[in-house]
Amino acid sequence: MALKVVDKIRRKQNDHQTYLVALDIGTEFVKALIGRVAENSVEIIGVGRQHQRLTDMQSGAVTDIAGVVDNCDSALRQAEEMAGVVAKDAVMGIAGELVKGTSTTIKYKRTDAQSRIEMKELKQILDRVQDRAFERARETLAWETGQQEIDVKMVNTAIVDVQIDGYRVTNPIGFQGRDVSIQLFNAFAPMVHIGALQQVGNNLDLNIINIAAEPFAVAKSVGGEDSSDFSAIFIDIGGGTTDIALVDNGGVEGTKMFGIGGRAFTKRIATVAGVSFDQAEEMKLDYSAGKLAHVKDKAAVEEAVEADIKVWLSGVELSLGEFTKVDHLPAKILLCGGGTGLPQVLQALKGDWYKSLPFARKPIVSHIDPSMVSRVVDKTGKLTSFADITPMGLANIGLDVINTGSLSDSMLQKLSKTLQN
Ligand SMILES: Nc1ncnc2c1ncn2[C@@H]1O[C@H](COP(=O)(O)OP(=O)(O)OP(=O)(O)O)[C@@H](O)[C@H]1O
Ligand SMILES: [Mg+2]
Repeated sequence: MALKVVDKIRRKQNDHQTYLVALDIGTEFVKALIGRVAENSVEIIGVGRQHQRLTDMQSGAVTDIAGVVDNCDSALRQAEEMAGVVAKDAVMGIAGELVKGTSTTIKYKRTDAQSRIEMKELKQILDRVQDRAFERARETLAWETGQQEIDVKMVNTAIVDVQIDGYRVTNPIGFQGRDVSIQLFNAFAPMVHIGALQQVGNNLDLNIINIAAEPFAVAKSVGGEDSSDFSAIFIDIGGGTTDIALVDNGGVEGTKMFGIGGRAFTKRIATVAGVSFDQAEEMKLDYSAGKLAHVKDKAAVEEAVEADIKVWLSGVELSLGEFTKVDHLPAKILLCGGGTGLPQVLQALKGDWYKSLPFARKPIVSHIDPSMVSRVVDKTGKLTSFADITPMGLANIGLDVINTGSLSDSMLQKLSKTLQN
């Protein structure tokens, strides 16, 4: 492919009001949101969407920077026009099979059980957990890619669980005790993927305030700040991948991804019906909307989807089976992403597949409605679909970064809240 020279696209800063861009560079669509930052919420005032070419992305990762920059610019311009403002501070989502999100538990004995836990001690422990998680993620990625020297970077971190002498606390600061156990969630991505996103952001003249693992952003999108009893499985089916996140008692336990998304179904429909990819995509969307008129077309779509949905479901089963740290899987499944529009997805998940997994009872499956996303308020009336949840989730993450400077700062700040009060 010929190398295009990408010119830097200039964006101006506005008045004193704080604005935020959420940029979800998906395999199928670039989705851009512009939000006005209010006290503890983001008001979405601009929305833009641009279809990507088949060669721009592969399974959630950028493969053609110049192509992606063009698409992002177009989505951003639509959003800017609607918003009437230009925003520079941006949260970008990172996805794909090489984004790894796991939780690590560290247990340690304090030498002086009488002394109270202070911020300094906590910070040291968090650093240790992160070092350990980093090494593990690097090893996994080195093994999966066959590259021993792979460069890896942490993208998100969050506290899942803290216990002192077996007693669960939300904030360890100020407590006494001997045995401390801290569970931290960390998401890592290969530097080459992060670098590609940074390059895209740079060419768009955006100021990237955070690159967030998309399943983490989705997992944080519902349930609120202090909902320590909220548990759910999140499934985001995009064009290229299915992302799964497990939230247990308010904490993100881990994320998994596999490379089956809406495009796989379209490809199969194209083969079965003997039509082009674009025609098959149209048939699929019409089928979901109940608008596919011909019986023959309907039968072709159903035959094609039937075959692939089984493979997709075993992908879900395998992924959930890897969450070995929890005793039970939550009986609540929340769906988002364009690919979940296929009726067979809901049907498949409502079947009895769950019996081979440690579910306490049959899971209830439903779509996430845009109105359910924490702290993100749509003022445009355009965010109506479950495919809008991921960019909204990114805007929610952006709010934390804007309010506190960085996500790990926000984590420490949350923990120290009671100390300051
Ligand atoms: N109503 C629908 N029924 C079935 N499939 C749909 C529907 N709407 C969208 N899709 C499919 O969803 C996919 C696009 O979803 P989405 O916009 O969430 O993907 P993306 O974020 O660009 O991709 P990814 O997350 O994999 O990088 C396409 O494959 C499209 O065919
Ligand atoms: Mg997506």
